[in-house]
Amino acid sequence: MISTRRDILKLAGMAGLGAAIPRGLLAAEDIAEISAQVARLQLLPESYPQTEIWGYGGTIPGREIRVRQGERVRRRFANELPQASSIHWHGIRIDNVMDGVSGLTQEAVAPGGTFEYDFVAPDAGTYWYHAHNRSWEQVARGLHGPLIVEEAEAPDVDREEVLVLDDWLLNPETGQIDDSFDHPMMMSHGGRTGNYVTTNGRYNLTLPARRHERLRLRLINASNARIFPLKLSGLEAWIMALDGMPLPAPAPMEDVFVLGPAQRADLIVDVIAGEGDTADLVHVDDAENFSQVAFAVSGTASQARRAAPAALPPNPKMDRPDLAGATPLRLVMSGGAMGGMDSAILDGERKGFRELAAAGRFWAFNGVAEMTDTPLADLSMGEPVRLEIVNDTVFPHAMHLHGMHFREVSEAGALGPLRDTVLVGGRETREIAFTADNPGNWLFHCHMLSHAASGMTTWVRVT
Ligand code: C2O
Ligand code: CU
Repeated sequence: MISTRRDILKLAGMAGLGAAIPRGLLAAEDIAEISAQVARLQLLPESYPQTEIWGYGGTIPGREIRVRQGERVRRRFANELPQASSIHWHGIRIDNVMDGVSGLTQEAVAPGGTFEYDFVAPDAGTYWYHAHNRSWEQVARGLHGPLIVEEAEAPDVDREEVLVLDDWLLNPETGQIDDSFDHPMMMSHGGRTGNYVTTNGRYNLTLPARRHERLRLRLINASNARIFPLKLSGLEAWIMALDGMPLPAPAPMEDVFVLGPAQRADLIVDVIAGEGDTADLVHVDDAENFSQVAFAVSGTASQARRAAPAALPPNPKMDRPDLAGATPLRLVMSGGAMGGMDSAILDGERKGFRELAAAGRFWAFNGVAEMTDTPLADLSMGEPVRLEIVNDTVFPHAMHLHGMHFREVSEAGALGPLRDTVLVGGRETREIAFTADNPGNWLFHCHMLSHAASGMTTWVRVT
C-alpha cells in the first residue's frame, strides 16, 4: 500500500532530515545574522544536476531557530538575494513592527540591505519563518525555516523531530525550479503545487526509531499550495498542538489528518511497529499512498508501551472570545477558474474579468481584488470579533490571520482549538472568532501564496 517509488517525474512523495539540521547554533542574546542567499544543492537524487535555490543560510529548509518560551529573538536579516525581501515570523503573537510584511509593516529590504528583527516569543510551540515579499515566488524558491519555541518544561519524550513538508515545481530536464511564478494557471486554480515532494529537503527521509520509542514530531507545511492528507502506519499518535497552540487534551489521531498550507501540528507518536519493520508517516494521495517519512525500527526502547501522554502546558492568553458581545464580520471569497467572477474592484474602480485577468487578478474578497488603504475591519483593543468566511469558489483556501490566533466556531456555536490558519473547503462557509488584543495592522490572506498575490489579501487594524 505504501510505495517508495523513486520516480521523481511523478510526485516522489517523500521526506526530510533528522540530525542534520543545525540546532541551537545561535544564542538568543547575540545579534546573530540570518542571510537570504542563492545556493546550489542536491535537491534531486544524485543522478540529477544540482538545483539553484534561495535559502536562509543557503540551506533547505532554512536554519532552525530555537528559543525558550518568553525569550527574545534577535536576528540581523542580510538580504543577499537579487530581489528585495523581508521575513515574517508566522504564528508568533508579535509586536506589529516586527511582523515582516513588506509594504504593510516595513519596507522590503533591498538587495545588499539589512534589517534588525527583535521580538519576544510569548508562546511555546511550532512556528516558522518565511519571506513576505513576492512570497509566491520567494517561498517557492526555498525561503522558509522552522522557528521552535520550547516549553519551560519539555514533555516526556525520547526524541523530537522537526519535519518541514514542502513541494517543488522542478523542470525534470534541468533540475531547476520552474520560474513561471506569475502564470495565470497557477494563480487562478489551486495554486502552485510541485512535482517533487520533500521533507526537510529530502524526498526519501528515513529516520531511525526503536520499538516503543516515544517521539515528538513537529510538522510544518511550508509548501505554497499543497494540502497534505496524512496518516500513520506502525505509529500510534496523539495530536498535542495545532499551529503552535496546545490542545486542552491530547487528541488520539485516527485515520486521515489534513495539514493545509502554513499549518503546523505537534504529534506525540509511539512506535508500535516491530523490530526490523518500517513505520511511516504516510502521505495519502488520490492514486497511491507515499511514505512521506519512513522510520526504520531497530532495537527496543522499552518492553512495554507507555501511558497516554499528558497535555502540553497552556500558553498565556488562551481565553475564549466573548461570542455574545462579538462584532460580526463577513468575508466573501470569489473568483478563480470556474468561479464566474464577472467583475471586481481594482485600483478603486470596477473592472471586468478580462481587465482583471490582464492585471493578474483572479480572486476577490468582498468584491475587491486588491489590498486597499481601508482595512476589512477597524477594531479597538479588546474587541471580540466573529468573522464568517464564505468561500464562493470551487477551490479550498488556507486563510491566515497575522498577529492573533482565532478559534473556529462550529455551527452549534462551540469554539474549536486556537489556530492561525484555517483551511476552508470549496463552497464551504466557516466562522472564526477572536479577541482583537494585539495592536497594529495585521494581514489576513490566503496562504495558497499565488492566491494571495492575485486578489486574496486584506488586513485588519487594531487600535
Ligand atoms: Cu505565513 Cu502572511 O504569512
Ligand atoms: Cu486561496
